[in-house]
Amino acid sequence: MTEKNYRLTLDAIGNRDPAYLETIFSLGNGHFGIRAGDVLTPSATAGTIINGLYETAPIQYGEAAYGYAANHQTTVALPDLRVITIQNAAGEAFVTNALGEKTLDLRSGQLQESWLATDPNGATIQVQLTSVLQQPAGNLAALTYTVTAVTYTGKLTLAKTLKMPPQAAVSGDPRQARHLAPPAVHLAQPDAQTLVATIRTRQSRQVQQLQLAAAQGLTFAADLVPGAGITYPVVAVVNALNDESRLGLNVPVASLTKSVATAAKRYWQGFWAHSDASIQGDFRLDLAIHYNLFQLASAAGQDGKTNIAAKGLSGTGYEGHYFWDTEMYMLPFLTYTNPQIAKRLLEYRARILPQAQSRARLLGVDSGALFAWRTINGEEASAYFPAGTAQYHIDGDVAFAVDRYWQVTGDQAFMRSTGLQLLIATARFWAAFGSWSERAHQQTFEFFAVTGPDEYTALVNNNYYTNRIAKFNLATAAQLAAEFPTAAAQWQVTATEIADWRHKAAAVFLPYSDDLQINEQDDSAFHKPVWPFAQTPKDHYPLLLHYHPLTIYRYQVNKQADTLLADYLFDDLDAAQLQREYAYYESITTHDSSLSRSIFSALAARLGQQEKAYRYFMDTAAMDLVDLQQNAADGLHIANLGGSWLSLATGFGGLAIKSGVLSVTNHLPRQWQSLTLRVQIQGRLLQITYRPKKHR
Ligand code: BGC
Repeated sequence: MTEKNYRLTLDAIGNRDPAYLETIFSLGNGHFGIRAGDVLTPSATAGTIINGLYETAPIQYGEAAYGYAANHQTTVALPDLRVITIQNAAGEAFVTNALGEKTLDLRSGQLQESWLATDPNGATIQVQLTSVLQQPAGNLAALTYTVTAVTYTGKLTLAKTLKMPPQAAVSGDPRQARHLAPPAVHLAQPDAQTLVATIRTRQSRQVQQLQLAAAQGLTFAADLVPGAGITYPVVAVVNALNDESRLGLNVPVASLTKSVATAAKRYWQGFWAHSDASIQGDFRLDLAIHYNLFQLASAAGQDGKTNIAAKGLSGTGYEGHYFWDTEMYMLPFLTYTNPQIAKRLLEYRARILPQAQSRARLLGVDSGALFAWRTINGEEASAYFPAGTAQYHIDGDVAFAVDRYWQVTGDQAFMRSTGLQLLIATARFWAAFGSWSERAHQQTFEFFAVTGPDEYTALVNNNYYTNRIAKFNLATAAQLAAEFPTAAAQWQVTATEIADWRHKAAAVFLPYSDDLQINEQDDSAFHKPVWPFAQTPKDHYPLLLHYHPLTIYRYQVNKQADTLLADYLFDDLDAAQLQREYAYYESITTHDSSLSRSIFSALAARLGQQEKAYRYFMDTAAMDLVDLQQNAADGLHIANLGGSWLSLATGFGGLAIKSGVLSVTNHLPRQWQSLTLRVQIQGRLLQITYRPKKHR
């Protein structure tokens, strides 16, 4: 373990935009996250983000229709716990004039930062802050400030308070959070050391309590001369959501900050011991991978009531919503390395089954459950159904993740309860949602008016990915319900129902083009003209910000891997067909979604195209560290963080598990000396080391 490969500094990143730095150096622990803003300057984009906290408001449609999603759910940025006011003897504030360092130590979870600040007379101080969160999913943030006089002489006053972040500018980018009415904030100061903010959202009626404890007092003054410094430890308490009981701190603040730091270090050391992925031969890439895994783990809700938002706890983009991103991109890493977290995330899905059942009924499907495309509380929050609710594949994605968890862990207790329950509810949905049809005198089971993962193609018949994952869902539910008959009986599964699932699974129609000899994205995909790529200016990407959806839908153009994602998951094409399919879909894919490149990398590695796999992987691994999508300021692309592990482990490392049997294949690129992965298979920790084959 080389220390520098686990230490992110400003040298590793080119961008100095403050909002971008707030994201990159943000810290999270599954329960809450803090953005790494300038401590002396309250910012509209900094603040504390709580997993599961949201405000709601009715979605205003110009023209509404039956069954449209009714309410927004929008994460609420809460006061920045790190902001501090520092004043000179005349009561004038110091303001930042230079950022010194930002160093995130991935082995201890500690963020060290420093700033130079001046007062109106030009006298200078240095402010250093060490931030560390209680892990895993704890309530505490330990913040230790050290203020040193550089040229300043006199009395310095430090003060901590809790203020809602200033309102951010309204944006036209649909990927950014909207602004709903700010919550009501009630501040109480039970004593000179303690400040409690009780924050109530107005419509969703949630309560979040934040507390600051500073042993030297919320306001603290000291006389300084150049070279002299003071240390000011503060503990912030972020209560569990909707818990109003005051968390008593029975340990002195200074020793609490130390014990939070010690426990976090122990936690992260344990994390790396069972989760590490390391590339020898490229220090920057190795660091990028470690960073990605650190941030992915930091984003994961661990209480069975919360999940992983598209931006984790690092920003308010996508409104704090949970998507299929969790099951298909984030859960693979967690399942193979931290199965107890993966289990809690699947339990979240079981918890929102009642809402998913109601949603299915509202959509006219009389059995099973349909998960919301984007949600926090389980209800659909997608206001644009063609690229939202129509992505029915989310049900199959959940089923796929359940099966993956089962294969990797062999956790029978889980399968007998939550696992089977999820498989049954989703299989029932597909069985009731599909329709019988006929093609070439054969009975086929088909799915109409659906949207696949590729959001640049909407409301089609028989999206290949959707049909493929539905087929898998039906077949897997049938198989496992038969394997666990007593458990299945709890949900009234009968032999007739199992037979029906099997019959339908076998009959699911999968579009295929005889002309091109490849799987076709949907019934009509290849009849459309190809998007005029040659006439599209470079600055018109992502297309979604420059063209009406209907313009995009008229063409063959993909935002992200779709049919190829199915090829990647099911891995059953011969090399020649996979090659044809890859070449075809690659030529029409923009990668405007951050969920795309990792899959292209993994498939290229499987195809033996190591150079191509390597290029896609480089973009995946460093996506946020180079701000490839140019919107990391809104938060990290957490699915892609998981995607980078997918490319590494399942692409270059060929890691796969089928019928409980693990296999690995070496597809390493010549650029690396070796790759080491740690994974847990059925309770056993394995370390796998790959070296490039000599002949390449
Ligand atoms: C992608 C979706 C994804 C969502 C949230 C969109 O840009 O097309 O597949 O679920 O972002 O990450």
